[in-house]
Amino acid sequence: MQIHTTIQSLRTARAAANGKVALVPTMGNLHDGHIALMRQAAGHADSIVASIFVNRLQFGPRDDFDRYPRTFKDDCERLEAAGVAHLFAPDEGEMYPQPQQYHVDPAPAHVTILEGEFRPGHFRGVATVVLKLLNIVRPDVALFGKKDYQQLMVLTNMVRELAVAVEVVPGETIRATDGLALSSRNGYLSAEERAEAPRLYRELARIRDAVRGGDRDFLKLETEATAGLAAHGWHPDYVAVRRRSDLQPPGHADDPLVVLAAAKLGHTRLIDNLEI
Ligand code: PAF
Repeated sequence: MQIHTTIQSLRTARAAANGKVALVPTMGNLHDGHIALMRQAAGHADSIVASIFVNRLQFGPRDDFDRYPRTFKDDCERLEAAGVAHLFAPDEGEMYPQPQQYHVDPAPAHVTILEGEFRPGHFRGVATVVLKLLNIVRPDVALFGKKDYQQLMVLTNMVRELAVAVEVVPGETIRATDGLALSSRNGYLSAEERAEAPRLYRELARIRDAVRGGDRDFLKLETEATAGLAAHGWHPDYVAVRRRSDLQPPGHADDPLVVLAAAKLGHTRLIDNLEI
């Protein structure tokens, strides 16, 4: 695997690449969910470019930018074993040689709800860095996990509306055997919190199963799940049944749905979702 720390070096390698190229952007601290995306990428392209960049622009002032886990050596070993050909790992000076003045502003209706309500500016930072990565790598395909469902929706719309020449491919969420969605932030959990954490998945699964069984009283289901989490020491931000396409409240009975949740367990904020 070739490691590129400069845009120029990555571009030179990209120009020499034959066939289709897939990009899997990450912020590092790779887990099995990331590796599943790399393997999925191999089915869509002849070579894979992974990126590791902890993007300050998408962190709020009270977010965990400084303590976000950085495990570069382990990440490189995992990427190499997964068959990744190129790793783009710029430092901040390379990505943002001066404070970034041009940004991608996603549709307010898409980013003032759910995560956007609790993390103002987050998706602007995500969309800006992803567009920049797409412009640097110029991949044919880019893969993003469904674990960050709203991020996937925003980026899919950004690519379509700005006519970026890339196909966005979603990756399924990878879970531990007890249901907890894999996430770099799971590493913040104490042993006791880790044992409690799958409750988030179980509450989502309960809503999914109830809706599949014909229950359309979304407010009741959301309220029960919120109370179930709070009763076990969680601080829920939201539990919401939404249409998959734009994450607005369900309208027609045949809208494909997803249930999403975010809640704090101790100092760790976890998010998860399940398609219904
Ligand atoms: O999902 C992530 O890890 C990040 O939001 C991304 C897409 C790499 C952009 O920094």
